[in-house]
Amino acid sequence: MPSYRFATRAQAKATAPVALPEGTINLSGGFAFPQCLPNVAAAAAVAAEEYRTEAMQYSGAVGLNDLRDAIVNYVAKDGVTCTRDNVIVVNGAKHGLDLVARVFLEPGDAVIVTGPTYMTALSILRTHEARFLSIPQDEEGLDAVVLEEKLEQLQRDGAPMPKLLFDVPDFHNPSGITMSARRRRALVDLAKRYGFVIIEDDPYRRIRFDGEAVAPIKSFDDAGVVIAVGTAAKVLAPGLRIGWIIADPEIVRQLAAQKADGGTSAFTQRIFVELLRTGEVAHHIDLITNALREHCDAMIKAFAKYMPDVKVRRPQGGYYLWAELPEGVDSDMLAGLGASHGVLVYSGTKCFAADLKRNFLRLCYSFVTPEQNAEGIRRLSEAYAEMQGGLNPAAQQRASHAASSMATY
Ligand SMILES: Cc1ncc(COP(=O)(O)O)c(C=O)c1O
Repeated sequence: MPSYRFATRAQAKATAPVALPEGTINLSGGFAFPQCLPNVAAAAAVAAEEYRTEAMQYSGAVGLNDLRDAIVNYVAKDGVTCTRDNVIVVNGAKHGLDLVARVFLEPGDAVIVTGPTYMTALSILRTHEARFLSIPQDEEGLDAVVLEEKLEQLQRDGAPMPKLLFDVPDFHNPSGITMSARRRRALVDLAKRYGFVIIEDDPYRRIRFDGEAVAPIKSFDDAGVVIAVGTAAKVLAPGLRIGWIIADPEIVRQLAAQKADGGTSAFTQRIFVELLRTGEVAHHIDLITNALREHCDAMIKAFAKYMPDVKVRRPQGGYYLWAELPEGVDSDMLAGLGASHGVLVYSGTKCFAADLKRNFLRLCYSFVTPEQNAEGIRRLSEAYAEMQGGLNPAAQQRASHAASSMATY
């Protein structure tokens, strides 16, 4: 075998996957519920036949104008006012975040994140060699008072100020918290005062089980300090790989210039335009919201039954539960051991940029049925019981490897 001279960044990331037992229940990545996947055949036929010359070409860096206009209308329902010039289409929210990082970050620049935060955002930002300023959350979301104190301190010290803030204000991944309106306003205020830009990553906003929607951070932005990132992945299908960014036209131009792929597939963009136009997206959102409410409740009930000493907060929507294990229980061990009991969950340690907490799990209830969600928690409780009996060093090592090698999305 040749000895490849991989870059350091490649070697740091690639770990060998662990083989999983047949019938493993996947409560890890935020996959779509297979029983609710949309049928896009009619929209695809329109794209392929009526729009063939457009659909089979490069689309251009900013995306199809029809889709940009449709996104303007889509976000207007949330109170975001913008025009086509504020919109760029991307290959999903993660691609959007990567582009924003390319445009804003020099190695060593600081990004404000919540502790915990979306694990893949951390890995994307790490590839840009970001430093992190990790701020805790309370029931209202990112703690703006703690953030302000830290920013004041940095200013007093003459230290470089963070350039970006990344957050998921609705049904936060992983904590499930929805940020209050006053916090959203406070963040915009801090961004204006301290000169950073907020990335509002909001894939779950429309998957609301109950309670009142809170206006997006972008709707409070009167100074061009918020970059709103959206995606079709969670409201329709991740396989489409369609996302969008809404930002000041100057930022949009910079993002477009950093694209290296000739633009998002015009074929899937046109499919998405059709699905928005025919009302399929709105219909689908109702469908999955109703399904996921049941999934979520089944998982919470199963925790109460099988692992009553684990604390979970019911989110008002979204895809995830953030489970707090009793102090001292090692989440890496439990996630790794869970895999050998036939259930995949993420250790919460993946979600911290700093001030690592070792006793949280992130669970996703979207992918499997309510019954399988319950069975997954039962299996996890078996792993938990085994752990409490004490693990020998070889079993500990196997469990840690299994936890760290899980693919993330
Ligand atoms: C907060 C957050 N942003 C973005 C994404 C992924 O977006 P996309 O599939 O559009 O890249 C996810 C998926 O898990 C997510 O939780």
